[in-house]
Amino acid sequence: MAKIVFKSQNMEVDVPTGSSVAEVCDSKNVPFPFSCRSGVCTTCLCNVLEGAEFLNEKGDNEKMTLEGAGAKDNQRLGCQLKIEKEGKVVLESVEY
Ligand code: FES
Repeated sequence: MAKIVFKSQNMEVDVPTGSSVAEVCDSKNVPFPFSCRSGVCTTCLCNVLEGAEFLNEKGDNEKMTLEGAGAKDNQRLGCQLKIEKEGKVVLESVEY
């Protein structure tokens, strides 16, 4: 199991590895801001405060969107995140 802490929403959930953050938010009613859910709009931009090493690598689409948005190195698109390894991941929404 892994743990995701949603700092802006003041929630934390235990999740099986392999979970996508968007699916977790839907099933646990986490009010994380999403819109397109396809890595285009940046509504879900978040700071990864801890545990980046437990997440999936950035895909080309996510890299392009982050670059276009001038995102910092520790920022990811929440809708593109998957928990790949056991550990604790702390996410902070940028727009919340
Ligand atoms: S919801 Fe649009 S990029 Fe994630």
